[in-house]
Parts: sequence; structure tokens; C-alpha cells
Amino acid sequence: MSRKQETVRVTIVGFGYVGRGVAEVIKRKHDAIARKHGIDLTIVGIADLYGSIVNENGLSEEEIMNLRTGKNLKDISSRDVIKEVEHEVMVEATPTNVDNGEPGLTHVLTALESDRHVVTSNKGPIALEYKRVTELAAKRGKELRFEASVGGAMPIISLVRENLAGNGIISIEGILNGTCNYILTRMAEEKLPYEHVLKEAQGLGIAEADPSKDIEGIDTAVKLVILANSIFDMNTAYKEVEVTGITEITPEALKLADDEGYVIKLIGEVDRDGSLKVAPRLVPKGNPLNVGGTLNVATIKTDLAGEITVIGKGAGPIEAASAILSDIIGIYT
Ligand SMILES: NC(=O)c1ccc[n+]([C@@H]2O[C@H](COP(=O)([O-])OP(=O)(O)OC[C@H]3O[C@@H](n4cnc5c(N)ncnc54)[C@H](OP(=O)(O)O)[C@@H]3O)[C@@H](O)[C@H]2O)c1
Repeated sequence: MSRKQETVRVTIVGFGYVGRGVAEVIKRKHDAIARKHGIDLTIVGIADLYGSIVNENGLSEEEIMNLRTGKNLKDISSRDVIKEVEHEVMVEATPTNVDNGEPGLTHVLTALESDRHVVTSNKGPIALEYKRVTELAAKRGKELRFEASVGGAMPIISLVRENLAGNGIISIEGILNGTCNYILTRMAEEKLPYEHVLKEAQGLGIAEADPSKDIEGIDTAVKLVILANSIFDMNTAYKEVEVTGITEITPEALKLADDEGYVIKLIGEVDRDGSLKVAPRLVPKGNPLNVGGTLNVATIKTDLAGEITVIGKGAGPIEAASAILSDIIGIYT
């Protein structure tokens, strides 16, 4: 027997790696999602900095391709796509800005004010204006979901809110930045100095040309603040987090740690007493937090379920899109 289908119209704002990943996974999974969840996901608008495309009946693959090549674009701003195009879910995937949250903050506020649900991978609005955006979402009776903003594909927020519902969460600690983990893993394994491995990571596209936000621990602090605000109901900002990055770590320190049965990892930790900290820490080699390469990991300490550890890919367009897709489906199921 065929299930009743509910059409869910989606717009994507910001069509870089993640935005394109979302379009790709919606195309790949459309039929399976319709069969399994009764949701007909239809992309009706995409807005990027260089133009927009809109089709209220659903964008074709050719139209989406046109956006990538710059053909037949409409001169409609992202804000107008969010406000004027009829749709249910706005996916926000513009660059993270941790100074003022823009342009993502305006997109999120506009979408909620226009009665759209919001799913975002953008850390800025959630880390800086959590109270404002969640209160607006509640006032408008809309959902605001942001699983992809922390740990990419790795579920933490929905894991705590849904699967661990009823548990008291004591603390969350983990590796939330794949660039730092790659650098520390390579330094330890190959006995190479920090500057050498950083250059290698930049060559591979694992570290950005300006890696400061990653290596100084700011990216980890921003993600920690998202967890602190959304899981521990704190109302904090990343500037309040005690942060030490990885720039001072030497191959000698890693060797000493190795001799004693430890690795050094950049760990972010938040606990229910309000402590928030990002710092390199000694981790016993047998500890579940000892994951290598660009992997992310988080151990959630709970009062009923004990310790739960999740490991996964913290970055990548399809991986981030996986979290976004699951957030969209979660709104309707
Ligand atoms: N990449 C990942 O693996 C990953 C994982 C988890 C979370 N995230 C987060 O997801 C977001 C997107 O990441 P990304 O890697 O896809 O970044 P990206 O490749 O830089 O894509 C962002 C896109 O947004 C566009 N944009 C900038 N301002 C805009 C505006 N006002 N209106 C509409 N579009 C605008 C950019 O255009 P221009 O290029 O012309 O500036 C670009 O095409 C970021 O906040 C990031 O932190 C990324």
C-alpha cells in the first residue's frame, strides 16, 4: 500500500560545499525518503552570493547546474528568496562568522519570521545568538535544528535530546576539530614538527590558508558553546571559554607522552557545573577519545546510561548533508 505523501518544499541558502552536498543527497535519497517517511522533498529555491534560482514546482537538475555555471540566474537576494518563495524548510549553509554571525543570523531570523523551519550547519548564529533564535523559533512554533554545526555527520545533539532523553547529562568531552586532530596525529606518528605538518595539511585541503581559528582552538570553543547552550541550557559565548590551542606542542612532548602510554589531543570539555575548557590533554592510548586522522569523537557522561562515545567524520559535504537531511526528516517524523 502506498503511503500518503507530504510535500516539503526546501530552499538552500549558501551553495558551497555543504549546500551542494544537500542538493546531492536530496536527489540521491528522494525516493527512499518518500517511501520510508512519506515526505516528498522538493528544492524550490537556491540562493548564493552570485545569484539565485527559483522554481515553485521544484528545481530540475539542469536548473541547479545553471546555478553552478552562473547561467539564467535571477537577481533575487537570499533574504527575498527566504521571504518571498513559498517553502517549509530553509537550509542555511553560508560561511561561519563568529564575530557577528552574519549573513547567517539574518537568514535564520528572516526564515523564522517568515514561518519557515530552519536547519543549519552554520555555527555563527547558534553560538552567538542562541537565546534569540531559539526564542523566536518557539514564538513562531517553528523548528530550528543545527546538528551539522557540531561534529559534522556525528550525532550529538539529537542523540542527547532523543535517544538519551530522560538522562541527566553530566559532561561532554571530545575532539571537535578534524584539522587539529590530523596535525597532532601526524606529528605523533611521523615525529614531525608542527610547521611541517601544518603545511602538509594545507596542501591536502585539511587546513585552511588561514588556519588560526582551528589551531588556536577557537573553532572547538565555538562548538563547545553550541553544546553548552543547547544541551546544558547555559547562556554563554565562546569568548568565555578558557582556550589553549595546539601551536606550542612539540614532537618531544608527543614522544614523552607516547613513552608513558598516552597521546596528546585537543579536547573540548563542558560539564553541568558550567565549566567550559579547550586544551591539549594527555589521553591514555586505550581511551575511546584516542581517534586518529581527521576523525571527531565525543564522550557523553550520563547519570543513567553511563558513558556513550560517538566517533565520526566531522567535515565533508556529504557528511554534513547527512546531518542536515536527518534534521529535516526529524522535523516531520
Ligand atoms: N564543509 C564542511 O565540511 C562543513 C561541516 C560542518 C559545518 N560546516 C559549516 O557549513 C557552512 C557552509 O560550509 P561550506 O564548507 O559549504 O562553505 P563554503 O563552501 O564557503 O560555502 C558557503 C557558500 O555561501 C555563499 N555565501 C556567502 N554569503 C552569502 C549570502 N549572503 N547569501 C547566500 N550565499 C552566501 C558563499 O559564496 P562565495 O563563495 O561567493 O562567498 C559560498 O558559496 C559553514 O558555516 C561551515 O562552518 C561545514
